Amino acid sequence: MTSSTAALVQLDADHGLFPAWCGVWAATERLDRPDQEPRPVSDHVALARQLAEPGGSRGGAHRAALVGGEVVGALRLILPLKDNPTMAVVDLAVHPEHRRQGLGRVLHDEALRLAGEHGRTTLITEIDEPGHDVPGRRFAELLGWTCDLAETRRDLLLPVDEGRLSAVEADARAASAGYRLVTWRDRTPEEFLEDRALLEQRMSTDAPHGDLPVEEERWDGERVREYEAAHIARGRTVLSAGAVREGRMVAFTDLQVPLARPERASQGGTLVLREHRGHRLGALIKAAVLRELAVAFPEVRRVSTYNAETNTPMVAVNEALGFVPAGRLTSWSRTLG
Ligand SMILES: CC(C)(COP(=O)(O)OP(=O)(O)OC[C@H]1O[C@@H](n2cnc3c(N)ncnc32)[C@H](O)[C@@H]1OP(=O)(O)O)[C@@H](O)C(=O)NCCC(=O)NCCS
Repeated sequence: MTSSTAALVQLDADHGLFPAWCGVWAATERLDRPDQEPRPVSDHVALARQLAEPGGSRGGAHRAALVGGEVVGALRLILPLKDNPTMAVVDLAVHPEHRRQGLGRVLHDEALRLAGEHGRTTLITEIDEPGHDVPGRRFAELLGWTCDLAETRRDLLLPVDEGRLSAVEADARAASAGYRLVTWRDRTPEEFLEDRALLEQRMSTDAPHGDLPVEEERWDGERVREYEAAHIARGRTVLSAGAVREGRMVAFTDLQVPLARPERASQGGTLVLREHRGHRLGALIKAAVLRELAVAFPEVRRVSTYNAETNTPMVAVNEALGFVPAGRLTSWSRTLG
């Protein structure tokens, strides 16, 4: 079979082929990271429903590539609706048993067509690179994409070494006098909702993003609640910590735990407002969520985080906590036309 016999089908979460579409991602993830469970179908379903929700901050489209009635390729386009109006995020994968037959190109052509149809002129994608020379990199280079950002993935094996954690905490407490630590789960306390929105907005441009052509995102309390609800819908619980000064939350960090498979948690965003940096608040809040995690989910074996190497302060905190390199994630862009 070749790409000339492939058919493209439009899907949503309720389509009968959606589980097979998710299977393409699972097969890809198993090949790339055999020691790790792939994302469950429920995660893709919840994201698809969120993208289809009227009034949400992101829209999207799904396509399956079929050969002989079998789903062998998957495409998802995510369209920001509240900011970045010319951008589209592209995720595409071909089942490992059907590669090098031109299916990737078919899905890529469809991504360009769909993006154009929605008035998008800048495309963004991410490539997981657990090792060297992954096919996605060759493919992206060939099709005119530029690598704008490289982030190192670091994993922390749990339980955390108590000596390290208490040393980081002691150091952070000494440097952060005047700041109060707060923790919560899943829902930002109402009193900090607007502060959280500002932190998320800053996160979109303050965290190093290399040459990625992204504009600052627009966040308000409502979008924070939408974001929180999306995590719950995707079967995750989020443990968070923040630093408060004079009643305002000026730093936050999130740790996401997939409830069906809690062995591997992921670090979400961490940001300290520029004007409050230099007080070890990053270390203070990250150590706090690790403590919360140990109590609430002792079954978590590993936490993964991604950082640009230029993000020296964040990398230093992570290394002090015992995170070690485990591959990289690259972000790419391409203009349309
Ligand atoms: C990248 C990916 C989508 C390519 O799918 P595919 O169906 O094999 O792609 P195609 O057959 O259309 O390949 C197009 C060209 O890309 C290049 N390419 C693809 N895979 C390659 C590999 N493993 N090594 C070197 N070049 C490769 C080749 O130039 C190829 O043309 P050729 O086969 O005529 O030499 C697939 O490997 C995949 O799903 N990877 C994991 C997810 C991913 O990285 N997605 C990319 C995000 S942009």
